[in-house]
Amino acid sequence: MRMVDLIEKKRDGSELTKEEINFIIEGYTSGSIPDYQMSSFLMSVFFRGMTAEETANMTMAMVHSGDQIDLSAIDGVKVDKHSTGGVGDTTTIVLAPLVAAVGVPVAKLSGRGLGHTGGTVDKFESIPGFRSEIEADQFINQVNEVKVAVTGPTGNLTPADKKIYGLRDVTATVNSIPLMASSIMSKKIASGSDAIVLDVKVGAGAFMKDVDSAKKLAYAMVEIGKNVSRDTMAVISDMDQPLGLAIGNVLEVKEAIATLRGEGPKDLEELCLTLGSKMVVLAKHAKTVEEARKMLEEVIANGKALEKFKEFVIAQGGDASVIDDPLKLAAAKYEIPVLAKGDGYVAKIEADSIGTAAMILGAGRATKDSVVDLAVGLMLHKKIGDEVKKGDTIVTIYSNRENVDDVMERIYESYSFSLTKVAEPVLVHAEIH
Ligand code: URA
Ligand code: CA
Repeated sequence: MRMVDLIEKKRDGSELTKEEINFIIEGYTSGSIPDYQMSSFLMSVFFRGMTAEETANMTMAMVHSGDQIDLSAIDGVKVDKHSTGGVGDTTTIVLAPLVAAVGVPVAKLSGRGLGHTGGTVDKFESIPGFRSEIEADQFINQVNEVKVAVTGPTGNLTPADKKIYGLRDVTATVNSIPLMASSIMSKKIASGSDAIVLDVKVGAGAFMKDVDSAKKLAYAMVEIGKNVSRDTMAVISDMDQPLGLAIGNVLEVKEAIATLRGEGPKDLEELCLTLGSKMVVLAKHAKTVEEARKMLEEVIANGKALEKFKEFVIAQGGDASVIDDPLKLAAAKYEIPVLAKGDGYVAKIEADSIGTAAMILGAGRATKDSVVDLAVGLMLHKKIGDEVKKGDTIVTIYSNRENVDDVMERIYESYSFSLTKVAEPVLVHAEIH
């Protein structure tokens, strides 16, 4: 087989076989296919697309390029949730104990990663004593006993995706449905999930800017799941503004605790119930999402979800007393209000830009060597549709430095106001099964 022939075949719009796709992925991962040929191939895919079968084959070829996590020693169906990237997305911290509280096993492999705030691992580590670097056998035992465990990056998962993503980033080929879908699904499958719930974000702050493209991406991933025997469901959720109110590690942990008590922001609670009920159904602990949702609402109301969070924190070596007394968590030195400059209604909050404001405070990583300041971040007091009077606090900045002019300027740039009433945005645009 010659790479040049396969590029030509895709360029002219033909379908590649499984063997041909394996040849490309193996060759590129090992280095026998150079960047210039792979770039040309990716651009051909960008324009020609891929069939559902090609996309599934591409996904599995990437899964096989590296290690696969074996979770077969865990009882039950292992369901994972993936979000295509939000700002201050607290859902994972809520969902892990929430669905575990109804008996669904949650084996969470999470990274630190780059971004506006730390990864899930950083967020949990803002609980004093919490250890996320746990051994594989402890991880497995803990999921069997407590139903939930989290561990940091393990093994060499999907090296093909890492290398291809790096190349896509500099060849204008990120935004291709088959390439995105196979990239995301390969990572979930390699980390051992039997079933997957996808939270596809749509809006100004997301990869997908409109509902139609988000749906296409979601369908492509659900289709991959079908083709490779991993039950997959997707939710298209809004990212025209940040979800919830907290952006920052400790702040998000506090927000998650409040949500597990039933006292969290309504949009965050709603999305957690929507995603969580799909996880419960896929794990076969309920027949319908309606039944699953009732189970989740019940464990929030009767305190079992919060209890599960404590049990989980203790199992990972953390100080669970912070859950009853969140004031024990690290606090920032300064709390600086950002005041409205006039009267009106919030019309828009650029999620991406407000996330960057949190990052420059130190809440997230700009490069992989940046150190995350767990205590800092932003609390939003006004969201789309809220009425604002001149002098109201729209955001509080939690900072460890006194001068936050740069952050404040970004926050003002992120908010737009209208003189007339603005409707609250739709949170869940579509659900795809
Ligand atoms: N996220 C991924 O992991 N891969 C993509 O291609 C796009 C978003
Ligand atoms: Ca949040």
